[in-house]
Amino acid sequence: MRTQVGIVGAGPAGLLLSHLLALRGIDSVLIEIRSREYCEARQRAGLLEQGTVKLLRDAGLADRLDRQGIEHGGIYLQFAGERRHLDFVDLTGRTVTIYAQTEVVKDIIARRLADAGSDAIQFSVTDTQIEDIDTDKPKLRYITPDGVGHEVTCDVIAGCDGFHGICRPAIPADALTITEREYPYSWLGILADVAPSTDELIYSHHPHGFALHTLRTPTISRLYLQVGKDDDIANWPDERIWAELQQRLALPGWTLHEGPVLEKAISPMRSFVSTPMRYGRLFLAGDATHIVPATGAKGLNLALSDVAHLAPALDALLHGQPALADAYSETCLQRVWRSTHFSWWMTTMLHRTPGADDMEAQLQLSQLRYVTTSRAAATSLAENYTGMPLP
Ligand code: PHB
Repeated sequence: MRTQVGIVGAGPAGLLLSHLLALRGIDSVLIEIRSREYCEARQRAGLLEQGTVKLLRDAGLADRLDRQGIEHGGIYLQFAGERRHLDFVDLTGRTVTIYAQTEVVKDIIARRLADAGSDAIQFSVTDTQIEDIDTDKPKLRYITPDGVGHEVTCDVIAGCDGFHGICRPAIPADALTITEREYPYSWLGILADVAPSTDELIYSHHPHGFALHTLRTPTISRLYLQVGKDDDIANWPDERIWAELQQRLALPGWTLHEGPVLEKAISPMRSFVSTPMRYGRLFLAGDATHIVPATGAKGLNLALSDVAHLAPALDALLHGQPALADAYSETCLQRVWRSTHFSWWMTTMLHRTPGADDMEAQLQLSQLRYVTTSRAAATSLAENYTGMPLP
């Protein structure tokens, strides 16, 4: 079999890339080790920068997003018993939109299957391998659930297969520079069947640790708690989660409404950047090449931004013009490092490092007071949070 672009991974990056390439008349084979059901059910982030919404809209993927996405013009920062609002529209003219990653994934899967038929995405494949990535005929191998082995000769391969995928490790280790930091805490996230108790997201700094109240729909809330790095979900019965959320989000005169917990999971917090994002005819995008801690809500936005650059770069490369493909890594890394810095900054401003002295808390509180009282500091946060415009 032959295709122009072999895409590994049907997360947001791989899915959007296959669609953007199709719009340019470029064919691709998209493979995924998980089932369609798994891809459409896994709970991830849910906040889209304004540029990401525009990207999806321009690609004709925003019908449901435009109907069901919840636009937000700001956030609350809570600390030292106060809740302060940051007005992003006033500060930057930009907004963000709550629309879950799973919904983005469902929308693009449906569109690809409608446009290109049931073979457009090969789910539940096994034994995925990539070969000859330093030649101009790289190969993708995999076995479909019917037991049939496939070998696809490609012009390029796009590795969109996440942090634990096979693509980044296919690059010789001495060709990559990895910059990494693990944070000494994790996030416990819940999805709760209760209307959000707030009109805007609440980021709360608290002596017990960070908490975040976000949402999914007018009737579904999403909440997060800072927990121990190696904490076990078994330590967190629902009553304990709600009790902790009640303490960390408490404000006189305001009530946090509780409801049935539909889902809960603990995720680690890590900053990770692997450079360059290209090796020969293998191009990496999304979590396969960078990870940010969830505090800044940048992971999904970065992944989609990568492929917004990658689609035109591959189009040009396949038409004999390599300049954009040659610049791909450098171009994306500027945004990747900006988001890596912002995510680190938000994370370290809001979380309590286990065993930290009082200096940490006082510096955090001073920073929080500064970003909620200085227009210059607030604008810097707002500009980073809502995201820089995309090409
Ligand atoms: C989410 O809705 O899942 C979310 C929102 C904002 C964040 C992180 C996660 O900073």
